Amino acid sequence: MARGTRGRAQVAVLLSGTGRSLENLLACRARGELDIDIPVVVSTRADVRGVEIARAAGIETHVVRRRDAPSPDALSARVAEALAPHGIDLVLLAGFLAQLRVLPEWEGRMLNIHPSLLPLFGGKGFYGSRVHAAVLEAGMKVTGCTVHFVDAGYDTGPIVLQRCLAVQEDDTPETLGARVFALECEAYPEAVRLFIAGRLRIDGRVVRVAPA
Ligand code: GAR
Repeated sequence: MARGTRGRAQVAVLLSGTGRSLENLLACRARGELDIDIPVVVSTRADVRGVEIARAAGIETHVVRRRDAPSPDALSARVAEALAPHGIDLVLLAGFLAQLRVLPEWEGRMLNIHPSLLPLFGGKGFYGSRVHAAVLEAGMKVTGCTVHFVDAGYDTGPIVLQRCLAVQEDDTPETLGARVFALECEAYPEAVRLFIAGRLRIDGRVVRVAPA
């Protein structure tokens, strides 16, 4: 790992929306629960809360609109350009709603969080409250969130960890989404801690977690 000048892992966050996941990572860092620096954020939209949060935190923030980078190749090239000066160890997709091509330098160093128990309710079109609506429609009794390495597919990479909860009879996509997001707030930092501790090893489709 490159490690920054203060010995901390250098993490880039890619987002497209409200930035609650970025906010949570920053809060964990401020509480001393995550030994990382976030020197750079890339957003695919300019007018989103995620950009405001990043700028308010003093993070170098780039906007790469999808119309300016219309293919996964073009988007990855623009993102790579933004990340290049920062010696990034780990790239986190945090509500990032565009498809990238995973560049060789990102293989095994890019994570995503998804608000369902993958491989259920993943893939194109499944994001945010659409996922929770589909879970309710299917009559699921449990759901949760998944942190996974990003591969060439959509929500298909090797799973690092999952957290689950019970679906209640009176849940709406909003109530369920709020409880799943609370789990996400624990799961993503936990996956980042495992990664920066060097405890994750990808073995085909399976991620092996070394003991502490
Ligand atoms: C999170 O719930 C995350 O799991 C989901 O978007 C939300 C991001 O919220 N990601 C996906 O659905 C990816 N397919 P945020 O923009 O407020 O951080």
